[in-house]
Amino acid sequence: MSKSQEPIQKFPSPMDLMNCNMKIAMVYTSITGNTRELAEEIYRIFLRKSFDIDIYRIEEFQASYVKHYNVVVIGTYTWGNGEIPKEMRGFYHLLESLGCKDMITGVFGTGDCFYPNFCGAVDLFRDMLYVRTHLAAVLKVELMLQKQDVDRCNAFVESILKHAGRRKLQFT
Ligand SMILES: Cc1cc2nc3c(=O)[nH]c(=O)nc-3n(C[C@H](O)[C@H](O)[C@H](O)COP(=O)(O)O)c2cc1C
Repeated sequence: MSKSQEPIQKFPSPMDLMNCNMKIAMVYTSITGNTRELAEEIYRIFLRKSFDIDIYRIEEFQASYVKHYNVVVIGTYTWGNGEIPKEMRGFYHLLESLGCKDMITGVFGTGDCFYPNFCGAVDLFRDMLYVRTHLAAVLKVELMLQKQDVDRCNAFVESILKHAGRRKLQFT
């Protein structure tokens, strides 16, 4: 086969990804607002790229919803000594029990470097999602979102879209 006849590897454009019915759920928790602000920033980035995304506080999200999404993005603060907040534990176990390698996931969170286990809840989700799902991105932010974190939010979204694109190539 000559060079000119070789198949060209095609990477999907954002339009291709939308055409594959990519549905994104963002599920987050927040007490004092830091993780909420981060969630809203990431949500806006997905929206600006015209992706189909629904945002839920954990209290609004029912286990039965999960089957409607092929991308799930989780946002959490950290509590206790590097622990997952109580309200997120059921969701953690739901994703763990689903064990769905076709599901693209990302996890982000805020924490405080003062604690020995900085963003420990993000680490716990990360380790489980890496084994049970197709983990695409992880993002940790120190307390309140700062201007310099916005580039990291963009990179987080890009990484999720890139992984989703690769999966689409495998399905077509
Ligand atoms: C009792 C308590 C325990 C905490 N434990 C940790 C911890 O182990 N690791 C960490 O990174 N942050 C810890 N934090 C900090 C919070 O995770 C951080 O303030 C976070 O931004 C709060 O998120 P929210 O504003 O979305 O509620 C703790 C805060 C409190 C009040």
